[in-house]
Amino acid sequence: MSKLWGGRFTKKTDQLVEEYTASIGFDKELAEEDIQGSLAHVAMLGKCGILSPEDVEKITEGLHQVQMKIRRGEVDYAVSDEDIHMNIEKLLIEEIGPAGGRLHTGRSRNDQVATDMHLYLRRRVVEFVQLLTNLQEALLGQARDNLDTILPGYTHLQRAQPILFAHHLMAYVAMFQRDVERLQDSFKRINVLPLGAGALAGTTFPIDRHFVAEKLGFDRVYENSLDAVSDRDFIVEFLAAASMIMMHLSRFSEELVLWSSTEFNFVELDDAFCTGSSIMPQKKNPDVPELIRGKTGRVYGNLIGLLTTLKALPLAYNKDMQEDKEGMFDTVKTLQGALQLFAPMVATMQVNRDRMRDAVNKDFSNATDIADYLVNKGLPFRQAHEVIGKTVLYCIQNNKYLLDLELEEFNKFSKLFEEDIYDVLKPESVVDARDVYGGTARRQVEQAVERAEAELVQT
Ligand code: ARG
Repeated sequence: MSKLWGGRFTKKTDQLVEEYTASIGFDKELAEEDIQGSLAHVAMLGKCGILSPEDVEKITEGLHQVQMKIRRGEVDYAVSDEDIHMNIEKLLIEEIGPAGGRLHTGRSRNDQVATDMHLYLRRRVVEFVQLLTNLQEALLGQARDNLDTILPGYTHLQRAQPILFAHHLMAYVAMFQRDVERLQDSFKRINVLPLGAGALAGTTFPIDRHFVAEKLGFDRVYENSLDAVSDRDFIVEFLAAASMIMMHLSRFSEELVLWSSTEFNFVELDDAFCTGSSIMPQKKNPDVPELIRGKTGRVYGNLIGLLTTLKALPLAYNKDMQEDKEGMFDTVKTLQGALQLFAPMVATMQVNRDRMRDAVNKDFSNATDIADYLVNKGLPFRQAHEVIGKTVLYCIQNNKYLLDLELEEFNKFSKLFEEDIYDVLKPESVVDARDVYGGTARRQVEQAVERAEAELVQT
C-alpha cells in the first residue's frame, strides 16, 4: 500500500528523507494511547451519525485486533509509514479493508498526537505520585527509627549545630511532598482534551468533543483549536517537575555518597545497592546514588531542549514539535529508574548511630548554645558571641572540646558560667532546646513525622 497522503505526489519520497522525518522508531511507545484515542473518536463518529453503526463496529473490532497484535509483539512497523498514527491506521486498513479509511474522519494527526501525549503523561503522573509516596514512606520509616540519632548538621559543609537524623530525613519528605503537589497541580493542565481541533481550525463534521472527553476521562476540552494543537506547555511542566525531583534526588545522592565514605562513615548502603571494583578488592562503591546524581543532567537537558525547540515556533503545528517525544520518554524512563531504586535503597540503608554520635561529641556544634546560655544570664548576644569565639579558640589551641573544660577555665572567659553549663552542652540538650515548630527538638520531630504520616494516607 502506498502512502496515506500519497495523492498529491508524483515522486517517491527520498529514502533519507523518509528516515529523517519518521518518528516510528520512538513514538511506537504511544501505541496504547493512540488506540485508546481512536476508540473514543470512532465511538463519537457513530454517536453523531457521521459513520454508520456497521463501520463503527468494524473499526472498533479492527482496532482491538491491531491492539492485540501489537501487545503480542506481532507487528512490524514501517518507517515508510512515518509514525505510530499512520502505522496503526495502515494496520487497521489491512485488518478490515477500506472501512478502516473512515477512522480519520474529522481528525488530524495534529490533534491526534496531542491527545496521545496527554493520555500518556496523565498515566505517568499518577505513577510518579505513587513512586514519590513510596519513597516518602521509606524515609518516614527511617525517621521513626532515628528519633534518637544525633548527628552534626552542616552549613558550608562545616559542622554547625547538632540535629536529629530523623529531622534531616524529614527535610527530604517535605521536598518530595512539594514534588507530589507539583505533579498533582500539573494534572489540571494535562487532563484536557485537544481532539476535535482538527489540523488547526476545527472540523466541518458535526462532532461532539465533550463526548470524547468524557469517554477518555478528560476534565475539559481545549477552548481554542489553535492552542489545542500547538500547546506543549504540559510537557514542559512535566519536564520541569521531573527536573526538580531529580535535583532533590541528586542532593540526597550526594549526601549518601559523602556519608558512605570512610571519612564520614555515617551510613552504609546495603550490598544489594552497591557495586565493586574490577581491580581494588576492598571497594564498595555507591554507584546508584552516583548515577542518579549523574543522570540529573540529562533530565535538565531534556527540559532545556524542549523549551528551546518551542521557542519562536509560529502557530500552529510545526514538524519541530515531533522533537517533544524522545526527551519526554527519556525523562520518564530516567525518573522511573531513579525513584524505583531510591525507596528500597533508603529503607535498607544501615545508619551508623554511634559514629554519628561520636562526630557530635568531637566538635564545636554546641557553641551557639553556650552563647545562648550567656544571653539568658543577661549578656547581649554580640558580646556572648565574642566570648564563646575566644573560648573555642582556647579549646582548639589546647586540644579540647567545650565539654572538656573545667568550670575555672570557663570562668576565665566569663564569670557568668556556672555548673549547669555542662547539662546545656550535652548533644541531647542542644537538640531538645530547639523546641520551636519545625525545629529539631525530639518532640517537634516526632510530631512532624506524625503529621507527615497522616498526610501520606490522604494523598
Ligand atoms: N509524528 C508527528 C509528531 O509527532 C505527528 C504529527 C504529524 N503531523 C503533521 N502535520 N505532519 O509530531
